[in-house]
Order: sequence, then structure tokens, then C-alpha cells
Amino acid sequence: HRLAIVFGGRSTEHEISCVSARGVLAAVDRERYEVVPVGITPEGRWLVLPDDPSALATADGRQLPTVRPDAGQDVILPPDPNGAALVPLGPQRASRTDVRTSPAGEADRAEAPGPAGTPAAVEPAVPGAAGIGDLDVDVVFPLLHGPYGEDGTIQGLFEMAGLPYVGSGVFASAAAMDKQHMKTLLAAAGLPVGPYAVLRAGESLSEAEKERLGLPVFVKPARGGSSIGISRVDAWADLDTAVKTARVSDPKVLVEAAIIGREIECGVLDALDGGQPETSVPAEIVVDSSAGFYDFEAKYSSSATRLDVPADLPAGTADRVRAAAAAAFRALDCAGLARVDVFLTPAGEVILNEVNTMPGFTPTSLFPRMWAAAGLDYPALVDRLIQLALR
Ligand code: DAL
Ligand code: MG
Repeated sequence: HRLAIVFGGRSTEHEISCVSARGVLAAVDRERYEVVPVGITPEGRWLVLPDDPSALATADGRQLPTVRPDAGQDVILPPDPNGAALVPLGPQRASRTDVRTSPAGEADRAEAPGPAGTPAAVEPAVPGAAGIGDLDVDVVFPLLHGPYGEDGTIQGLFEMAGLPYVGSGVFASAAAMDKQHMKTLLAAAGLPVGPYAVLRAGESLSEAEKERLGLPVFVKPARGGSSIGISRVDAWADLDTAVKTARVSDPKVLVEAAIIGREIECGVLDALDGGQPETSVPAEIVVDSSAGFYDFEAKYSSSATRLDVPADLPAGTADRVRAAAAAAFRALDCAGLARVDVFLTPAGEVILNEVNTMPGFTPTSLFPRMWAAAGLDYPALVDRLIQLALR
């Protein structure tokens, strides 16, 4: 089979996706799959890269790898970096590119019509999208985190092209990407979620909402990942700054009440025989970060974070976490894989925090480590995901 591994992309998690891809590219069995690495630059150009680890080398002076525009061949017509293709897809959309190319504080311009008065929503994000067929591959692994990759957009492209792909479909990807809608669906399925408020562009938190949520709160972009744009707020005087920080990534912001409890994560994986999805052993994140939570630094570079795989939990509690993870996967109609993050309160209650449809896949990421602890090593996990897509 010819397998395209797509990574990088336009979200703020571009570099994390590149690290994930470096791990997966190293793990794919070349006897079984001919690999076509497809890197998307932060500007949205699609490049076919050589199947060679140097294609993802870290550029000078950078800590993490990125897809460089000179690293490969344009295969799919690239969008004009200054043109219609980079106009956000919808009224609530803000991408990394928008943030960089619009004057500060104008993220709300996402509501503006596209060039020549065309509504932004009708402009294709990738004008050469039909060119995806030119890759001549049998299956795609969209190893993208965040908007334009983990949110249903690229999944829609593959559906249109009739290409099988790893992971959740359009709806589950979109639903899990948006923390507001994710919580709504989880709650509707009877799964406990913490108290939160939604602030759309221009809105601020009322006194009554402050009273209801209490301090501290966590302020998050509604559609983001890797904790980018998230702040912990311990005094209401700091709320405005935190909301502004989150709005750099997304005009829609969530303000969540802090949940006192242990941070536990659990992997979910579809079964090859089409039976019930399987759950991994749960893991625990023990953070000792100056930010007071599992922020970007604590996630990817800090030695102050302890990851316990498996989490030290009584068997009955681990089972409840796994059942909640499986129920969340089902509630959102996920497919392939997901990592479900929960809080375990001192009273023993499992509260859902979020569902990630394309969890971090770096060799030190929890998702592969939880499966390794469950007996499925990194290469076997990658192979299983590809087989699920081809099924
Ligand atoms: N969004 C990051 C990659 C994660 O959930 O692991
Ligand atoms: Mg997430």
C-alpha cells in the first residue's frame, strides 16, 4: 500500500505535529507500506517530502522541527499566501496565519468577507484540493493537531477524494475540536463535565458567571491544543489579559472552573474486528509547573512533569476511568483512536475534561506510552491505526 503521512499544518501545533510525524515515520514498516510524507507549511503549502529523516531536521536556532518550504516538491496547488485561501473558513475561525497577518487585536476580522466581496466560507482552503488524488496513495494518516487537521476540515477533503484515512471522521473531529460543543455532547450523553462559560467575540464574563465559576479559572481558546493560549487565572483582575491571550488563537473562549483532582488520561482504540473499542491502561500527569497547570512547557520540555504509566489507581477506579473514556469516544462518534482526559476528584468522581481525536504521537507522548504499557508497542500501534483505516 502507498501511505501518505500528512503533518505540520496551519495550526499553532505545527511543530508538535512535526515531532509526532518524526516518530511515526520512523515506525512504519517499509516492507508493507510505501511512505509518502506530505508536509504542510505553516502558511498552508502542501509539499511531498523525501522519505528521509533529514526532511524533518530542525532548522537552525529552532528547538522543534517545522515543514520548510524548500524541503520538498509542491504537489498540490499551493494557496496564494496573500490570497483568498488564507481567509478563515467561517465567522469564528482564527488560524495561526490570520494572527500573523492581521494587525493585533483584529482576529475578529474573521467575520470580514473575502476578497472581491466573496463570503469567506465559500473559498476553498486549498484551491488544489482535488490534487490530493494526484498523490496516488491508498490511505492517509493525517497526523495533524489542532484546527485545519484535527477539526474535520482535512477529513472532509479525504471524504471528497474517496481516500481512506486514519482516525475520526468529519463530525467527531469537528465536535471534539470545539471545547464548547464537546462538553455539550458529553453532558448530553450523561457524562459529567465541569462548570464553564463561553465567551464569543466581544463578550465578557458577567459578575453572576464569576460567582458561579469561582476562582481559579482556566481560560482557553475554544479550538486549540497543546495548552497554547491557555492561562490559569487566580484573580479576576487578570481575566481580561487571559481572554485576550486566548483570543489570539480563537475569538471564542472558554472559561472553566478549576476542578480539584488528579489528571488522568486514557487511550481508546477501535478494534480490528469491528467490535467494541478497547481502552488502554490509564496514566496520570503529575505537574510541578510554575504556570500551575500542564502547560506547553510542562507538556513538551519540562522535567518537572511526572507521567505515571500506568496511573497508580485501585482496579475499580481504573475501570471507571476506562469506561468513561469509552463512553466519551462513543458519545462523539469517534473512530480509530482518541485520548480522553479526565479529572479524578478526591470523592472518586470521574469528570471529563476533553477528547483529543489526534493525540500527541511523539515517542514520549502519553498516548503511545499508555498502549505500550497495555502491550501494544509504538510500531504495532501505528500499524493497527493504518489497518483500521484500510478496513
Ligand atoms: N493536542 C496535543 C497534541 C495532544 O492532545 O496531545
Ligand atoms: Mg486537547
